[in-house]
Amino acid sequence: MKDEIFKQPGSGKKPFEFNAQVAEVFDDMVSRSIPFYNEVLRMSAELARTFYQADTEIYDLGCSTGALVPFLEREFAGTGFYYSGIDSSDEMIIKANLSCPRMNSGATKAQFAVADITQIDYQPASVFVANYTFQFLKPLVRQALLRKIFGALTPGGCLIVSEKCLEDAADMSRVYADLYHTMKARNGYSQLEIAEKRDALENVLIPFRVSENLELLGAAGFNPVSIFFKYYNFTSFIALKP
Ligand SMILES: C[S@@+](CC[C@H](N)C(=O)[O-])C[C@H]1O[C@@H](n2cnc3c(N)ncnc32)[C@H](O)[C@@H]1O
Repeated sequence: MKDEIFKQPGSGKKPFEFNAQVAEVFDDMVSRSIPFYNEVLRMSAELARTFYQADTEIYDLGCSTGALVPFLEREFAGTGFYYSGIDSSDEMIIKANLSCPRMNSGATKAQFAVADITQIDYQPASVFVANYTFQFLKPLVRQALLRKIFGALTPGGCLIVSEKCLEDAADMSRVYADLYHTMKARNGYSQLEIAEKRDALENVLIPFRVSENLELLGAAGFNPVSIFFKYYNFTSFIALKP
């Protein structure tokens, strides 16, 4: 279903939430709002396949509608993996369960759960994916969660993180934000929709600088940390547990 949530003037006054209305249009929203969304998911699945260790878990933090699962299934091509998708939004998990009905066939063992990713005790895992999720967490909890993920990862495992970011130079952040809004306009959003959504995301999506993200990952123990994708203010990182 087409995302028309911010078509009305004033619709961005309410802070953005991952509610039923957003879950309904989520796949259209992300494919038109996140640059190279499908390609980032495909690369995430490829990297997951590269670092996955048999009989461990792949955690998908803030999995939303489970869009990563078909990419993982394609990449693993029947070799089998354990997948756990976690999201705090009931509506997203309902959609995820509806759109990934075949998951427990063959070698793949997959499940979705409603939970707060900062509060879970994680099973041993060789892959964590957190695409566009940390940016919605309160800044103060991000470092503790990174340490928790590091603790649950097996040596040689990886964390894949994608985020909307700022640059060290504020001028450059503005240029990138403007060009990102141009991309949204190319994808069919009106100037009003772009402005209303930006208002709704104020203080809800809190971007860190690329350099801050690198520092937090390093401080949690990850080494090396590498950028595998960048489009203006959108950056994807892979961080390894030595
Ligand atoms: C932009 S979406 C992530 C998109 C998804 N990873 C993908 O690639 O399609 C952010 C998701 O994080 C979830 N989320 C935000 N805070 C959370 C938390 N504390 N615990 C679990 N999920 C959370 C939201 O409900 C939302 O579905």
